[in-house]
Amino acid sequence: MITALDHIAIAVPDLDASIKRFMEDFGLKFEGKEDVASAKTSTAFFPLPPTSIELVHPLNGEGPIAGYLEKKGGGIHHLCFRSDDINADVAMLKDKGYQFLSDAPSKGAHNSMVIFIHPKSCDGVLIELNQPAEEH
Ligand code: CO
Repeated sequence: MITALDHIAIAVPDLDASIKRFMEDFGLKFEGKEDVASAKTSTAFFPLPPTSIELVHPLNGEGPIAGYLEKKGGGIHHLCFRSDDINADVAMLKDKGYQFLSDAPSKGAHNSMVIFIHPKSCDGVLIELNQPAEEH
């Protein structure tokens, strides 16, 4: 079951400049940076209860965010829904005909399990499903 809007992710061309903006200009609490090698991203999280902002930047200049930045320069990249049972939600959505970017959930930031629904299945919006580590 989807239980919350976990985060909104913004692709940024200069991670440190954007961290500075969100900390100093917007006054948000900076939770820290995390490199997610499996997704080839560097991420930075700003909790903004009940959700959070995730800045995403290519790790070592590679991966899907690098392509996104090349095409668009930056922008809102994905929404993430929190799930209390990601495998059940994936199975339920596959039954309804949704396509995913991978066959099964894999480890994402914060050791959570994540999978992305193909934007073709959601009117062009990339949606991540995320089950936090403490719930699996
Ligand atoms: Co995300």
